Amino acid sequence: MNTNIKSNKSKQYYFFKSLTYLKPYKGLGFLCVLSCVLAAALSVAFPIFTEKTLTAFTNQDTKALLISASLLLLFQVAHSVTHMALWGNSADKLRAKVTKDIRYNTLSSIINLRTRNFDLYGSGRLLQVVTSDTATLSGIYTNIVDVFMSMMAKVAVFVYIFAANYILGFYCLLEFAAVSLAYHFRIRTRMKDRAKLKKEHDKNTGFVNEMIRGVRDIKNYNIQDSMMDKAEECLHNLEVVDHHFGRKQYQLFRMTELTKSFMSFLYIPLALLLIHYGLATFPIAFTIYVFRSDVTGFINWAMNSWEYIKDGGFYAERIFNVIGGYHEGFEDFPEEDNFKKLPKQLDVKIANLSFAYKDNLVLKNFSLSIGHGSKIAIVGESGSGKSTILKLLNKTYEVERGKIFIGGFDICDFSKDTLRNTITIVPQDPYIFNFSILDNLKIINPAASKKQIEAACKKAQIHDFILSLPDGYDTILGEGGTRLSGGQKQRLAIARAFLKNSPILIFDETTSALDNENQGKIKDAIDSIGKNKIVIIVAHRLSTIVDADVIYFLKDGKIKTSGTHNQLLKNCKEYKRLYNHEITKQEEVDVIETAPLLT
Ligand SMILES: Nc1ncnc2c1ncn2[C@@H]1O[C@H](COP(=O)(O)OP(=O)(O)OP(=O)(O)O)[C@@H](O)[C@H]1O
Ligand SMILES: [Mg+2]
Repeated sequence: MNTNIKSNKSKQYYFFKSLTYLKPYKGLGFLCVLSCVLAAALSVAFPIFTEKTLTAFTNQDTKALLISASLLLLFQVAHSVTHMALWGNSADKLRAKVTKDIRYNTLSSIINLRTRNFDLYGSGRLLQVVTSDTATLSGIYTNIVDVFMSMMAKVAVFVYIFAANYILGFYCLLEFAAVSLAYHFRIRTRMKDRAKLKKEHDKNTGFVNEMIRGVRDIKNYNIQDSMMDKAEECLHNLEVVDHHFGRKQYQLFRMTELTKSFMSFLYIPLALLLIHYGLATFPIAFTIYVFRSDVTGFINWAMNSWEYIKDGGFYAERIFNVIGGYHEGFEDFPEEDNFKKLPKQLDVKIANLSFAYKDNLVLKNFSLSIGHGSKIAIVGESGSGKSTILKLLNKTYEVERGKIFIGGFDICDFSKDTLRNTITIVPQDPYIFNFSILDNLKIINPAASKKQIEAACKKAQIHDFILSLPDGYDTILGEGGTRLSGGQKQRLAIARAFLKNSPILIFDETTSALDNENQGKIKDAIDSIGKNKIVIIVAHRLSTIVDADVIYFLKDGKIKTSGTHNQLLKNCKEYKRLYNHEITKQEEVDVIETAPLLT
């Protein structure tokens, strides 16, 4: 599937759309405009008093010279003070607030995206949208705000030039037109080339992100060299496009500068001719010469700001794609439950469920029923669809064909809170946040007391380990819980489930990394906490589920057979073979462990 969302809207459209975030800050917006107007009013005084100072100087009028020079200085100071007081406290505050709001909205959208979007786009790209795209957009706001601020001031200077001498004013217009044309050409090529450059930059960032996330496996497999070869290739591609872009831009920059110099050069004979024929005075011609370049420089800025807007639109479009739900949209839950109340005694019914990831049909017309208070197990070979069933139960993925009922109600009628509080899944690969242990648990149930948290950890057989750490429950766990072993992560995840205490508890291979002793203790804890609940266990180690009320044996997305452990041993050859294999392996381990050491 093509993951680039094409839109027929222009880039500018998205940039201006991002400005709707200004709405809540009308007061600050008013302060910005006010400071622009004040700055413009003050800057018109600069050419006026420069001209007056020059006139006084040529007339050798010392008093007038002192007065106009002092006023010029005064206006300069007033201009700077206005900027510092108003601009800094309005425009930049506004930019920071808008950036924060956009970032917040993007993040809250990401959290509600359908899981299929994550399969499609990957976390690297989403990370880039929230962090770098919003930061770049914010930088572009600063540039544009800068241009906007000077715009009024420069317009005021331009008015002065026309009022002072309309012939030189027209010449300036001509000069602006020539320079604008040169800029226009430069910017058009820049926009085209920039798209290529961004594409390479994205590829690069994605690669670097992957490399940093996978650094432990890179070391583990000793593949630093081959990864660095890939990095070299990736960086080389960027270097080629980057250099092409830079060289072309520099050439075009020189061309624009040449146009400017040429027009500047022509100004001098024109001004001298006008002075000669008495159509201009020296102070006016000189003042216009000085401030003219100021206004021409502004054209550069103004044209750049159009580019900034387009550029900002590029990032804003990526941000709005996320805010709009990308390809697959947002998780779809009714605001309120479409039923009155869940019965106390819950049951689960899965009816004729079929499910595919893209074209890979994983579950085929799958049905099962789980009664209240029962403990069932789902077993089967790797890739047979066990975890997928669980992900459909809590709507991590949405059911497309078939139905799931909990307590007699279709899960499509459940609000998000009801469904996700009714079911807790301890996943195969639990994610541990880089918070403290306490916060990793509190986030599941903020109302839980320290005592309840400790009780959950005791049942999950992790309390003693936590106490053995220097910072105990306040230990920070590192990215993805790197400071924990696989089994410790699993036990912490189990503690979370105990703490949440939902009526339906699901454990997906959650004790696979544990030793037999801990596994046995946790099994007992699950049994005691699971009374009056529905417990679903997915396990490869069949010895852990022998006492399940029903065991479903899954093959190729279908239930091949079901029954108690003893029934399956009788009726299902594959189950018997797997179980016997496990027992034999365990016996071998026991023999090794109990054998006397050779001396
Ligand atoms: N997000 C996904 N996108 C595409 N295909 C997926 C995705 N998740 C799983 N699959 C595929 O769906 C099939 C079933 O996966 P599932 O995780 O349900 O298997 P499982 O029975 O839990 O396996 P295991 O015992 O190894 O955990 C596999 O072939 C897998 O490759
Ligand atoms: Mg699985």
